[in-house]
Amino acid sequence: MKALDYNGLDANASKNVVNSLQQLLADFQVFYTNLRGFHWHVKGKNFFVLHAQFENLYNNAAEKVDEIAERILMLDGVPANNFSEYLKIAKVKETGYVTDGDAGLAHVLDTYKHFIASERNVLKLSDEAGDESTVAMMSDYIKEQEKMVWMLVAYNSK
Ligand SMILES: [Fe+2]
Repeated sequence: MKALDYNGLDANASKNVVNSLQQLLADFQVFYTNLRGFHWHVKGKNFFVLHAQFENLYNNAAEKVDEIAERILMLDGVPANNFSEYLKIAKVKETGYVTDGDAGLAHVLDTYKHFIASERNVLKLSDEAGDESTVAMMSDYIKEQEKMVWMLVAYNSK
């Protein structure tokens, strides 16, 4: 039995959506782990603010990891669950031992730039597949991340 037999989506078009979601899943898993590192290692006068903010961000990323993986399953795909697979396809690079909060925030902003572009691509492919649920999901992600970009830019500005 297949979910696609019931939800009326085209198998070939959905395959493109699944592949683009696999990429997003891998990127969010690496991002999640990078954020954990920033949360643990950050030092300096902004420790309390940034330690908490990195936690908010990794909790947000963890929710998205689960939503993306389950969306892949709803499209009859199989989400990868091992880091060796993620690292083969992830475009987000692993960060090392980062204690500088500003460097962590710069990574977050760069990664949001990448996510917003990737999600627009997933949105386009899901629109072509007539898959309005994935379109709506990507639209929500982009909207939320554009707001985060605004706040991070404001935090970095005088
Ligand atoms: Fe913690």
